[in-house]
Amino acid sequence: MELLKKIESKQAKLGVIGLGYVGLPLAVEFARAGFTVVGYDVDQTKVNDLMAGRSYIPDVPSDHLADVVKNGRFVATTDPKRLNEVDIIDICVPTPLRKTKDPDMTYVVQAVEATAEVLRKGQLIILESTTYPGTTVEVVQPTLAAKGFKPGEDFYLAFSPERVDPGNPQYQTKNIPKVVGGINEDSTRAAVAFYSQVMDTVVPVSSPSVAEMVKLLENTFRAVNIGLVNELALMCHRMSLDVWEVIDAAKTKPFGFMPFYPGPGLGGHCIPIDPFYLSWKARQFNFEARFIELAGVVNGSMPEFVVQRIIDALNSQRKSLNGSRVHIIGVAYKRDVNDLRESPALEVLELLAKRGATVSYTDPYVPHLKHGHLDLTSVNEKSMHESVDCGVIITDHKVFDYHSMVTRFPLLVDTRNALKGVTRKNVFRL
Ligand SMILES: NC(=O)c1ccc[n+]([C@@H]2O[C@H](COP(=O)([O-])OP(=O)(O)OC[C@H]3O[C@@H](n4cnc5c(N)ncnc54)[C@H](O)[C@@H]3O)[C@@H](O)[C@H]2O)c1
Repeated sequence: MELLKKIESKQAKLGVIGLGYVGLPLAVEFARAGFTVVGYDVDQTKVNDLMAGRSYIPDVPSDHLADVVKNGRFVATTDPKRLNEVDIIDICVPTPLRKTKDPDMTYVVQAVEATAEVLRKGQLIILESTTYPGTTVEVVQPTLAAKGFKPGEDFYLAFSPERVDPGNPQYQTKNIPKVVGGINEDSTRAAVAFYSQVMDTVVPVSSPSVAEMVKLLENTFRAVNIGLVNELALMCHRMSLDVWEVIDAAKTKPFGFMPFYPGPGLGGHCIPIDPFYLSWKARQFNFEARFIELAGVVNGSMPEFVVQRIIDALNSQRKSLNGSRVHIIGVAYKRDVNDLRESPALEVLELLAKRGATVSYTDPYVPHLKHGHLDLTSVNEKSMHESVDCGVIITDHKVFDYHSMVTRFPLLVDTRNALKGVTRKNVFRL
């Protein structure tokens, strides 16, 4: 296969469609490994930033980006025609849900159409966006085949789920094993050879649908276990037990137990969304994915429970939520990232404002926040705690000085156990 030789000699050119949390680290990693990479994104602002060497993804240092822009290994563009220069196209566009919780395939369809426009013999096309089992074969393949090319012969096609964990310094693109499933043996072989140039471990599976299901199993596993532990937190609260102490002790078991932690609700572009791609597909087989639905209900109730704990805290000082000033500490969906997508902080803020509280927030990673009627700017919590009735830790960024908060805020609701070991009357946990 001609393409294999090109990959192994690093002569193969890579095109990445969608330069976000998934596509940008991938593009920069391959460029740093010596490949020439064309990144295509519809967002002109992002393209401008990238070409100026400014990274908007914390896991991609600007100096790494600037190096590969400068040495010509990476170019970002809004022109899809530039993809006709490349041998491999990796699609990393969003896969959100519609309001009805059905998959929104708009971006994937657009990206595949852009790919079909430039498709030529010998190319390898890989879909990385998280999606339901069957997408590669049912959605991607027919659009490309409609160009008159034979799938698996004239072009190679595979699915490979992205497993990146933003903000995780230990596991990044290079050392996260990569699962790959091609539509035929040659497609898998080409995709394995490609990823092996950069990733330490590549795991081939028998089909794209298996690879698609692998990703959904992983994320459903997290959603369901978080749902279980959130339910346990609600139960422990009723029983006046400290759920954090229970988990800490349970995790001393060296086998058969893996700790998950309760929190203010699910966030990010993956865990709250991906399982519904699976339950949607399962319904087409007349199969009801009950664990997914149940976990969705429990996890979805957590922001309301957080508000209840804020009301409990205020109540201890004979205050009502209506008219109180509540300050949210950390709004990103998880620690040390700047990503607000689906963050439970947004729902908590909305519920508080609806009930008449005056809300504000601090998050060094999120300078501004717009959500519904709310339009807020992050304030330094050290400068304003005196006028606040209750602080609420939603995201436990490492930069916060938690222990001084305990004396600075009259009341603190801690949804992350950031104040582990602190036993003061003004601290309320989940
Ligand atoms: N963020 C994560 O932690 C993560 C982890 C694993 C998998 N995923 C999956 O990866 C996929 C991408 O997620 P993300 O977090 O990188 O999204 P993102 O929103 O950060 O990035 C997607 C990029 O695609 C661009 N885009 C949208 N439509 C386009 C089109 N038609 N052509 C070219 N560019 C287009 C957007 O402008 C954006 O820059 C999703 O399917 C997601 O579920 C995300």
